[in-house]
Amino acid sequence: MEPTSNLTDSMDLAETLQKVRVDALAAIAAAVDLEALDAGLAAAVGRESPIGLARRGLGTLPQEERKDAGRRINEVAAEIESAASARRIELREQQRTAAIEADAIDVTVDYRTLPTGRLHVIQQVIDEVCDIFIGLGYHIAEGPEAELGWYNFDALNTPPDHPGRLESDTMYLDYGRPEDDLLLRAHTSPIQARYMEDHDPPVYIVAPGRAYRNDTIDASHLPVFHQIEGLAVDESIEFSDLKGTLAEFARQFFGSDTRVRMRPHYFPFTEPSAELDVSCFNCEGTGSACRVCKGVGWLEMLGCGMVDPNVFAAVGYDPDQVTGFAFGMGVERLAMVRHGIDSIRHFVDNDVRFLEQFPG
Ligand code: DAH
Repeated sequence: MEPTSNLTDSMDLAETLQKVRVDALAAIAAAVDLEALDAGLAAAVGRESPIGLARRGLGTLPQEERKDAGRRINEVAAEIESAASARRIELREQQRTAAIEADAIDVTVDYRTLPTGRLHVIQQVIDEVCDIFIGLGYHIAEGPEAELGWYNFDALNTPPDHPGRLESDTMYLDYGRPEDDLLLRAHTSPIQARYMEDHDPPVYIVAPGRAYRNDTIDASHLPVFHQIEGLAVDESIEFSDLKGTLAEFARQFFGSDTRVRMRPHYFPFTEPSAELDVSCFNCEGTGSACRVCKGVGWLEMLGCGMVDPNVFAAVGYDPDQVTGFAFGMGVERLAMVRHGIDSIRHFVDNDVRFLEQFPG
């Protein structure tokens, strides 16, 4: 806008003021934020604005017109400033409301539907079994999954022609040193041998971990699965200690009414060897129309026995000084029996509808 209004002409002043007023009130009404409002205000009444220039030009007016012109300028300026103040209050209020909305917590949102992670049911069973044995005074031990043939077989009194050594059963690793006989451990039993090599008796350990076998996947086999190994070695451990320990474990894991029975079996590293059955928790051992034990009344649980003296000799223990028992259980099997799971494949399918059923 051309600032130098000829204030000697009062019509010119009136026109200028009217135009400034209309423009400024429109700009103030249209201002969408405080910056736009400030800019509009400065353009109307600031130092370099038409009103600012008009004020500075008052001195050039004859004395008798000066007072009236000044009053008219001030009236318009006051009207613009008060419109701006009102708009400023409105804009501040809008800003505050927007900030509150952006910051709001919607208390009606259902927080329980947020997906949270949890331990896999296999890990839950491992933790639970280990806790039971820790309560009985056992320690946790671990060993490598890539294992030497010595620990997986020889130290465990396994004969050279044992079928488990065949590639049809065990997965071998080939790093160009066949003399290492490197393989993926076929059970957690090698941890027994490693632990006894490194520790003097007495020994009370449980050793959880993965095991590998060259098995085709079906409802009860996976090539990668989990076991928990147990080993107790002391000066006068007897078969009754083995049975009592496993009976206590079964009661804690399956329920206080659980009974156990042992059937003769064969393992290279134990003599005598046995398989442990637990009474079916579903039919309480009656077997009648029971889909868990298929009418047998008993559930096959694990392998066990008294540590063979040859195993003690292989790890540098004196078989005349110590005796011991050992056991090994399949974790997937424990979980399947406990939860009535019909296929081992569910554990590795990673279907959340399955996994969610075990909140832990
Ligand atoms: N290693 C055996 C297997 O994988 C299980 C086993 C049986 C472990 C008897 C033991 C034992 O420690 O004494 O089938």
